[in-house]
Amino acid sequence: MVVAVELPGADIPLEDDLAEALELTRATGGQVVGTLTCRRGQVDPALFIGSGKAAELAELVAATQADLVILNQALSPSQERNLERLLKCQVLDRIGLILDIFARRARSHEGKLQVELAQLRHLSTRLVRGWTHLERQKGGIGLRGPGESQLETDRRLLRVRLRQLEARLARVVGQRQNSRRQRERSDTPTVALVGYTNSGKSTLFNALTASEVFAADLLFATLDSTLRRLELPDCPSLVLVDTVGFVRRLPHDLVAAFRSTLEEVRSASLLLHVVDSSRDDQRQLMLEQVNTVLHDIGAGDIPQIEVMNKIDLAGREPARSRGEAGGPERVWLSARSGAGLHLLRAAIGERFADALTHQHLRLPSCDGRLRAQVFSLGQVRHEQFDADGGWQVAFDIRRQDLGRLAPLLTAARPVEQ
Ligand code: GTP
Repeated sequence: MVVAVELPGADIPLEDDLAEALELTRATGGQVVGTLTCRRGQVDPALFIGSGKAAELAELVAATQADLVILNQALSPSQERNLERLLKCQVLDRIGLILDIFARRARSHEGKLQVELAQLRHLSTRLVRGWTHLERQKGGIGLRGPGESQLETDRRLLRVRLRQLEARLARVVGQRQNSRRQRERSDTPTVALVGYTNSGKSTLFNALTASEVFAADLLFATLDSTLRRLELPDCPSLVLVDTVGFVRRLPHDLVAAFRSTLEEVRSASLLLHVVDSSRDDQRQLMLEQVNTVLHDIGAGDIPQIEVMNKIDLAGREPARSRGEAGGPERVWLSARSGAGLHLLRAAIGERFADALTHQHLRLPSCDGRLRAQVFSLGQVRHEQFDADGGWQVAFDIRRQDLGRLAPLLTAARPVEQ
């Protein structure tokens, strides 16, 4: 049973709120047997939705034999407990629901740690209910301290587990920071995919880098940033980062847990903001919500290309257009069919092209050290050895790396452009 509630100052209409709640429920694999909506001037401290609506909900739950009520708002532990008692079934709030989805979709070690940590923190505030039947003295010598109740044991175990997870996560985050610093040192620009959840980021990531990252028609398929090298013609090597799906009102614990992932976005040189262009009604809203999150995490000023994805559904042709009213440039494409991908590649390439120069060297003999440097710093396009030991090579190299090559060249040999 899915319940949506509109409170004063709501950021989206009640129907959209319900539609989102249904989509989130679908992402957990739940089967919806009924829905209920209501508008409230203020939150009822005991039951959130007020006793009248709660009674109506209880009737609905009994009639449909629903075994779970999902309420698309953040409930306090006592509201959740009171509702459960009244409805005689389990109640899950928005935070619990999103955590459940994240837990199902976490792929990397880091993502799993982040989600478990957020789940335990959420649970620790709710550890008072449901355990009363277990709260009794347990026998057994040396198993636990005298007089310890089940609840105390649970709390103690929870604290231990939280500390373990925090320590492990700190290590993983340290590793990620190291890898980012390495990239920064080698001046490899990062391009980050951002966008509302289910907009098609993972599909585009796969299409651009021709790799397999789990893509499903469900929310939150991506939980961790995934890094891949992106090679484009006439462009220095780039790193493409796939990031967590953005969602409205992301629970606070989760924002904290995903901070290291979001850092990747902050240190990017360019953002590809993926938008589901087939959702005409929601497009602008989603775009603004993602931009709000970007602004909040300090990534509001990073240049963007808006990728209007899923044109196959919207019935549009691939295109590149200037942004509306001076906004970011737009590329219309379909990540699934591949139509228009070349336009995006060209648009990304142009942003970084200035950094690259083309060189053609002709040398009387091949110098091993120079050749190794050319291969490590540049992208070799063509190489040829003459019968008399001479060496010709054509390659692209970033302007700043040309300086590192120069001492080896000026030692004896001329450079031909
Ligand atoms: P999160 O990880 O939840 O943030 O999602 P995401 O933005 O990474 O989306 P994902 O790539 O998982 O795609 C979501 C769904 O949209 C999948 O079912 C894709 O197959 C589908 N999809 C992506 N691109 C296109 C497209 O160009 N056309 C159509 N028709 N479907 C697409």
